[in-house]
Amino acid sequence: MKYFFSNWKNYLSVEESLKMAENIAGLSKDNVRQVLFPSHLSVLSVKDMLSKSEIGLGCKGFFEEKKGPYTGQVVLSDLVEYGCRYALVGHSEVRKYNQDNDETVSKKLSLAFDMGVVPVLCVGESYSVREGGDAVDFVVSQTEKALKNINSGRVFVAYEPVWAIQPTSFDVGKDDIEDIVVEMYKFLSGKKDLEFDILYGGSVNSNNVDMIMSVEYINGVLVGSASTKYSEYASILEGVSKYL
Ligand code: PGA
Repeated sequence: MKYFFSNWKNYLSVEESLKMAENIAGLSKDNVRQVLFPSHLSVLSVKDMLSKSEIGLGCKGFFEEKKGPYTGQVVLSDLVEYGCRYALVGHSEVRKYNQDNDETVSKKLSLAFDMGVVPVLCVGESYSVREGGDAVDFVVSQTEKALKNINSGRVFVAYEPVWAIQPTSFDVGKDDIEDIVVEMYKFLSGKKDLEFDILYGGSVNSNNVDMIMSVEYINGVLVGSASTKYSEYASILEGVSKYL
């Protein structure tokens, strides 16, 4: 099975999310699992729109505590009630804007497992880390810290180099990805009871999806900006489906 996960971030309004979900609800490929991660306030309407579709639903973020006096936060149990079965954890934008760190990321992963939600752990280095030649160690260590309490169960790990996420002026190439993904795979394989798939995210679009899917050990993509446009969405799905 291959995976096409789309992170709509806050690109689309509730109405636009609904329209987009309506347009893509009929798209399906036997060998590709599609999951949408819309804005929090779009989750419920998108869920209704997907009721007859095979496309899954996830949330793009949640608070690390279960319930309580946390004004301004969104707790996972509410998102689960609204139909989310997957959750992004540790996305670089949450690390940047919401002060997520290795500790909160690890806590969120455990919470997701407790609630039966499949986590999509996002890891990736900044441009300065890459320039310094430490990208492999940084990404493996970030993965290790996040999964320190997780040894079994189902998880997706998305390698998302921060410098390659839109808007960016850098183009990503196969050479930028390969070595890191091999090391991630080795580390994850060491957790014998963990069921995992590695995804790639960062400026994926219809032109580069083929190059990305051809990288060994990559079983899918996590797409932001390009996945919010119907024609790009449909072409990326087509691209992912060519890989069996
Ligand atoms: P992008 O975002 O495809 O817009 O670069 C990917 C992500 O942040 O998940």
